[in-house]
Amino acid sequence: MVDKLKQLKEKESLAKLGGGEVRIEKQHKKGKLTARERVHFLMDEGSFEEIGLLVTHRSTDFGMENQQFYGDGVITGYGTIHGRLVYVFAQDFTVFGGSLSETHAEKICKIMDLAMENGAPLIGLNDSGGARIQEGVKSLGGYADIFYRNVMASGVVPQISAIMGPCAGGAVYSPAMTDFTLMVENTSYMFVTGPNVVKTVTNEEVTAEELGGASAHSTKSGVTHFTAANDIDCLEKVKQLLSYMPQNCEDKAADLPYELGEELRPELEGIVPESANQPYDMREVIEGIMDKETFLEVHKNYAENIVVGFARIGGKSVGIVANQPYSLAGVLDVESSKKGARFVRFCDCFNIPLLVLVDVPGFLPGTDQEWNGIIVNGAKLLYAFSEATVPRVTLITRKAYGGAYDVMNSKHIGADMNYAWPGAEIAVMGAKGASEIIFRKEISKADDPAKKLSEKEAEYAEKFANPYSATARGFVDEVILPKETRRKLIKTFSMLKNKKVSLPKKKHGNIPL
Ligand code: HXC
Repeated sequence: MVDKLKQLKEKESLAKLGGGEVRIEKQHKKGKLTARERVHFLMDEGSFEEIGLLVTHRSTDFGMENQQFYGDGVITGYGTIHGRLVYVFAQDFTVFGGSLSETHAEKICKIMDLAMENGAPLIGLNDSGGARIQEGVKSLGGYADIFYRNVMASGVVPQISAIMGPCAGGAVYSPAMTDFTLMVENTSYMFVTGPNVVKTVTNEEVTAEELGGASAHSTKSGVTHFTAANDIDCLEKVKQLLSYMPQNCEDKAADLPYELGEELRPELEGIVPESANQPYDMREVIEGIMDKETFLEVHKNYAENIVVGFARIGGKSVGIVANQPYSLAGVLDVESSKKGARFVRFCDCFNIPLLVLVDVPGFLPGTDQEWNGIIVNGAKLLYAFSEATVPRVTLITRKAYGGAYDVMNSKHIGADMNYAWPGAEIAVMGAKGASEIIFRKEISKADDPAKKLSEKEAEYAEKFANPYSATARGFVDEVILPKETRRKLIKTFSMLKNKKVSLPKKKHGNIPL
C-alpha cells in the first residue's frame, strides 16, 4: 500500500511540473505565469479542485507515444471566486506549447458540460500554439466540439476568455463566441492568420503585436473588451467583471447591502455645459450617479462615442449604455451601434437591468457610414433594446435627436421609465438644421436672411429644444433635477426589480447581424 501511495504522489508531483523546470523558466522569462500559478491567483485560496490531472494524450504518430505529460497541456477543474462556484480551464504552454489535442479538448468539453449542467460561469485562460500539429484532424474535431459548446452555453452561463499568450488560427473562434475577452499587453495575440501568411497573401509587413496584440484588438477591431498590464492584472479584472454577473440565466446578480440615504449629488449640476455644442465627459455623469468607484468600463478604447460598462446603484448591478459627447459629439455610427448592441444583449441574457444615458445628435452621415452598413448596424442597437426584457431606464441629459432618440431606449421600444434633465432637447434635429429646411423659402426671401434664420431657429428651439413636448405626451415620465437623479434612479430600479415580461412565442428572432 505504501508503494501505491508513493506511486500516486510521484505521478501527482510530475503532473504539477507540467512541461518541466526548463520550460517553466522560459515561461517566466517571457513575463508570463504558468497555468497552475494563474489558476492559483484566480481562485479563492484552497478552493480549486482539479479534474483530469493524470490524463495523457493517445497519439502514437511522430514518436508522440514517448512524449507524455500528465494533464496533456491543460488544467481543468472547479472552485470558487469570492465564494461563487466557477469552472476553469487554463492552457499550459509548457506542454507542447499548450496545443490542443483530442484529449486536451475532451478535458475542456467536460468542464463546459459541467458548467452548463450546474449553472455556473466558465472561465478560460488561453495560452496555446493552436491545433496539436501531430494529431491532425482529431485536434480540429476537438476545437469544433468546444465551439459547439460555446454556442450551447451562450446565454445560459457567463463565459469569459482571458488571452494570456498565443491564440491563433481557428482557435480564436472560441473566445469570440464567449461573452467577454481580456488580453494581456505585449504577451498575448490573436489572429486568424499570422504575419507570415499575411505577407505571402497581401504583401503587408506587420508584426504579431501590430496585427493581433492587445492594443490592436482593444482599439481597432473591438475583439477584446479589456486589456491588462500583466497576468495578475488580467486575473484581477476577470474577478471584478464576474462580480457584476449572476451565476446563470435564471439567476440575478447579487445585491450588495445598501441603506438609502439622502443621496443628493450636487456635482451633477455642473457637468452639462450651457452651450449645446460644447462637449463634456459622460463618464462624469456616470460616476456622479452610481455608487462610488463601482464603474467598470467595457470596450473602453473602442468606439469611444458610446460608453458601456457595469456599475452598482444602491448596491444593485446595472449595465450602462451612454452616448459620449466627448467623442464625435456622441453620434451613433457603425462601430458604436455594434458595441452597444452586444452589451445590451449580454445584460438581457443575464438579467442585468439597463440604465441608458442619452446625449445624441443622431446617426453619423456620409458615404463611409452608409457603405459600411449604418442601416443594418444601427438596427442592431434598435433591435437589441427592443428585445430586452430586463428593467430598462433612460435619462436624457441633453440632446435626443432624430432616429437616435427612438433607438436609445425610448419609451416606444419598451423602456420602463424615461427621465430627462431640464436642459434636454428632444426633437427631429437641432434647431438650426431644422429651420434651414422648413423655413428655407421664408429665409431666402428675407431682407436679412441671417437674422431671419436666427429668429426661426429661436422659434424652433422654443418649441422643441426642451423636454416638455415629450413629457406632455408621456414619452418622458418626469423631468428631474441632476442633483436628485441618483435618488430617483435607486428608487426606480428597486421598483422594477421584479419586472416580468415575455416575448411573443418564437424559435428565435432574426437580429440583423
Ligand atoms: C504541437 C507545438 C505547437 C503545436 C508549439 N508547440 N505549437 N506542438 N503543436 N501547434 C511546441 C513546440 O514544438 C515547442 O515544443 C513548444 O511548444 C514551445 O514552442 P516554441 O515554438 O518553442 O515557442 P515560441 O517560440 O514561444 O513560439 C510560440 C508559437 C510557435 C508562436 C505559438 O510555437 C508556433 O508558431 N507554433 C505553431 C503554431 C501553429 O501553426 N499552430 C497551428 C495553427 S492552425 P518544445 O518541446 O520545444 O517545448 C490551428 C487550426 C485550428 O490552430 C483550427 C480550429 C478550427
